[in-house]
Amino acid sequence: MKRIGMLTSGGDCQALNAAMRGVGKCLFNSGERVEIYGFLEGYKGLIYGNFRMLASTDFSGILTKGGTILGSSRTPFKQIKEPDENGIDKVDAMKQNYHKLRLDCLVILGGNGTHKTANLLREEGLNVVTLPKTIDNDLWGTDMTFGFQSAVNIATEAIDCIHTTAASHGRVFIVEVMGHKVGFLTLNSGIAGGADIILIPEIPYDIDKIIHKIEERSKNGRRFTILAVAEGAISKEDSKLSKKEYKEKLKNYKFPSVSYEIAQQIREKTGRDVRVTVPGHTQRGGSPCPYDRVFASRLGSEAGKMVLDGEYGCMVGYKNREIVKVPLEEVAGKLKMVSPDSGVVREAKMLGISFGD
Ligand code: F6P
Repeated sequence: MKRIGMLTSGGDCQALNAAMRGVGKCLFNSGERVEIYGFLEGYKGLIYGNFRMLASTDFSGILTKGGTILGSSRTPFKQIKEPDENGIDKVDAMKQNYHKLRLDCLVILGGNGTHKTANLLREEGLNVVTLPKTIDNDLWGTDMTFGFQSAVNIATEAIDCIHTTAASHGRVFIVEVMGHKVGFLTLNSGIAGGADIILIPEIPYDIDKIIHKIEERSKNGRRFTILAVAEGAISKEDSKLSKKEYKEKLKNYKFPSVSYEIAQQIREKTGRDVRVTVPGHTQRGGSPCPYDRVFASRLGSEAGKMVLDGEYGCMVGYKNREIVKVPLEEVAGKLKMVSPDSGVVREAKMLGISFGD
């Protein structure tokens, strides 16, 4: 008999349900008796003992469904270690609920913050298996996270749509892409969508280089320019500020995001018509793409097998086209970023894409 707790934490994404379905199907098909406790709204459910039992039927019909059947919430790592407003010690509460339900293990699906907490629970003696979820693809220890490819598809479609209207009106268009502090999503959707300029946090930009590219295109008879700008893009000057100084600058920031600042600078320096489009949370919504359905199902079933085999303390990751087990202590607290020297950046530059550097 195996008793398993399952939860999804942090920002949602496509294929969370597909991954849980993979775990559930593997466990229920194993022939072993299993009980699955689905904790609601992320770690909150585990802290306050809110759960519902998941039967095999709960995992049917959810492969293509976006979001998460368990609900999710953000409980930042810093707050996990602090007592709640009623003085409840959250870590203790999670441990107590785990033991009260006599769980053999927790299956936790999440991104960076989630993995820090999962690793803390491991250090506190709980058995944990995790799955790498995020549209940002910024988790250490895996070449890919599920949700990422679906988000690339949506951001690419946004850039595709902008192409026709930008061409008709001869405008400069900025499409702001999610990704938090990293540029994987912008880089991939930018290349796929044929953006002329791609700005990512890992390669700080110089506004004059951006202007130069726009003017150069114009001289070559191109009536429009499309920029794919990561929400975390940063200028060369700002990248020289300390973390504290940059935070301070953002406090008094008069633009909704960096894309609007860049748009304003382009307008002022070129007199051109500039528009900003922000696909925002559409990038996290809707049905997972076929790649993510397969990928998340594979990761899920491997996680299920790890539970059955009693192999705990690891994230199920993906390295060099193979599913791998990565110790949680290697994953937690590290950010995977785009390397400015990577092949994909070099190749994009050879395609004529400017990174504003
Ligand atoms: O981590 C996923 C992500 O969508 C990031 O790309 C983005 O910065 C953030 O979450 C948005 O968070 P929220 O949904 O809390 O606004």
